[in-house]
Amino acid sequence: LAGFLAGIAAAGKRSASPAPTTTVDVLFGTQTGNAELLAEDLVAGARARGLGGRATPLDAVSPEELAGMSHVLVVTSTYGEGEMPDNAGLFWEALQATTVPRLEGLRYAVLGLGDTSYDEFCQAGKLLDLRLEQLGATRVHDRVDCDVDYEDPAALWSAAVLDRLAAEAGATGAPVGSGATTGTTVTGGAGVSRASRPGAQWNKRNPYPARLVENRLLSSPGSAKEIRHLEFDLGDSGITYAAGDALAVVPHNDPALVDRLLEHLGADGSALFDGRPLTEVLRVDREIRTPSKDLVADLVQRAPASELAAVVAHGDKQELDRWLWGRDVLDLLRDAGDAAPSLDELLRNLRGLQARQYSISSSPLAHPDRVHLTIASVRYGDARRTHGGVASTYLADRVRADGEVGVYLQPNAAFGVPADDSAPMVMIGPGTGVAPFRGFLHERAASGATGRNWLFFGDQHRATDFVYEDELTAFRESGVLDRLDLAFSRDQAEKVYVQTRMREQAAELYRWLEEGASVYVCGDASRMAKDVEQALLDVVAGQRGRGDDDAQAYLADLRRGGRYVRDVY
Ligand code: 2AM
Repeated sequence: LAGFLAGIAAAGKRSASPAPTTTVDVLFGTQTGNAELLAEDLVAGARARGLGGRATPLDAVSPEELAGMSHVLVVTSTYGEGEMPDNAGLFWEALQATTVPRLEGLRYAVLGLGDTSYDEFCQAGKLLDLRLEQLGATRVHDRVDCDVDYEDPAALWSAAVLDRLAAEAGATGAPVGSGATTGTTVTGGAGVSRASRPGAQWNKRNPYPARLVENRLLSSPGSAKEIRHLEFDLGDSGITYAAGDALAVVPHNDPALVDRLLEHLGADGSALFDGRPLTEVLRVDREIRTPSKDLVADLVQRAPASELAAVVAHGDKQELDRWLWGRDVLDLLRDAGDAAPSLDELLRNLRGLQARQYSISSSPLAHPDRVHLTIASVRYGDARRTHGGVASTYLADRVRADGEVGVYLQPNAAFGVPADDSAPMVMIGPGTGVAPFRGFLHERAASGATGRNWLFFGDQHRATDFVYEDELTAFRESGVLDRLDLAFSRDQAEKVYVQTRMREQAAELYRWLEEGASVYVCGDASRMAKDVEQALLDVVAGQRGRGDDDAQAYLADLRRGGRYVRDVY
C-alpha cells in the first residue's frame, strides 16, 4: 500500500515506483473490431511495461476529456471512402468546433488501419493525426498506415511506441519482448489481452480447419440471388463466439481459373515459385479475381495502346471502376496482349489473397459447437462488388461435404444483444443483412431475455427470397419477435424498402427508442445503410417536431450510448 501511495504521490514525475505514473489512453475507432483488438493489446502492452492503460472508443471521449489526458494512442480504421468509422464520427466532429480546447499537454501517436485498394487509404488516421497536431499536441512517434495485412506493422509500431513511452516515464515494468510477431502473447497484469481469449490462437496465417457440415440453399430457384446457409463445426478449436461476431474465411481461388491463367501465360503449374508449385501459389496465395492497383498501373505502362490504358488516360475514376467491373486478372492480361508481363512480374503485382469476413448468423447459446453463416454467392459478372465472389463461390461450390475450411473468429464487441436483457431491440437487415439478427433472436430465445424484439427484413420477392421464413414465423408466433415488418421490393409496382416500413411505423418506432431500444443495422453500406439512417432521422424529427438538428443530436446520443450500431459492408 505504501508503495502504491508513493506512486500516486509521484504521479507526473519521473519515478521508479512500481505504481504506474503514466496512463496511456488508447482511443480506438473501429468498424469490424480490428482496431479494438489492437487497442486491447496496447493496453496490455502498456501495463506490461509498468504504465497504466485503458482503451476507450473515440466517440466516448469529449475534447475536454482529451485535453485532460497526457498520453494518447489512437488506433483507427477508415470506413468506406475515407470516412471515420462508426464510433469515431462524433469525436471527429467535436474536434472541428472552434471552441475545442488546445492540446499542448498531450503526447500522442496514431496507428491507421486501411486497405490500399481504396483511394482514401487510411484517411481517418491521417485526418486525426493532423488535427491533433494542429491543436498543439506533440507527436511522439510517426503514424504508420497499415494495409490489410496489418498485424506485423501494427505490432512493430505498438512495441516501438510503448517502449518509448515507458522510457520517457522511467517506468519499471517487467521486461517485455518486442511483441513484433503476430500472435505473440502480450501479457500484462490485469490487462485484457487478445491472446487470453479462447480460440484466439487462430488467425489469418494459422486458421482453424473447420469442417463445413452444412451447405444448403435458402433462396428458392427463380430468385435473382443464391443465398446459402452454411454451418461450420468448431470441433476442438476452443473458439467461443458471441452473437454479432464475424467469422473470417480463408478462401481458395477457383482451380479452373488458375488453370486458365496458367494456360494463358503458357506456364507450367508444377514449376516452383518461392519453393512452391505455381498452381498452389495462384490458388491459395494471390488475388487473381480482382486486379490490384499495382497490376493496373503496370499494365498501363506496358501496353499504352490497350483499352485499359485509354480508360485510365481519361482520368475519370468512375469510368475506370465501371470498366474494371467484372473483369478479372485474366481479362486484363488478354487486353494487354503481347505486352503482358511475365509470370514472375505478374506475381509481384498481385495482392495476397485476403480472408473474407461474414457476420455469424447463429447464437452460441443455441449452437455452441457450430457457427452458422448466411451468404449470397456472388457469381461472375453479376456482382456489384466483385471482391465477394472468391470466398462465396469457394464455399458454395468447391468445398466438399465435411471438407475443411480455414476460419478464425473476428469478434465485434460493439455489435451484440444489449447487456440488459429487458432492453428492446430494433433490427434492420434486408437481404443477407438478416444474418446477425437471426443470431440475436436465437440468443434471446435461448436466454429467455424479456426485452421486445422488432425485425425489419426485406428482399426482392417474398416467394423466392424470404430466407429463414419458417424460423422467423415461429419466433413471431412464440413471441420472441414482437414485430416483423417485411419489405419485398419487387412484389408490387412501387418499390417498398425496409425504410418504407420504418416511416410507416414512425410513431411506434419512436416509442421503442424512447423506451430504451437499441437500433441495429446490417447489410449494404453504400445505399441501404445511408437511406435507413435518413429514415431514422426523419422518424425522430417527425415525432419530436424539433427539427433536423435535434434529430441529429438524438441519433448521436444513441450512437454514443452504443444504442445505434451498424454492421455494414
Ligand atoms: P431492389 O433490388 O428491388 O432495389 C435486399 O437486397 C433488398 O434491399 C432488395 O429488396 C433491394 O431492392 C433492397 N434495396 C435496394 N436498394 C436499397 C436501398 N437503398 N435501401 C433499402 N433497400 C434497398
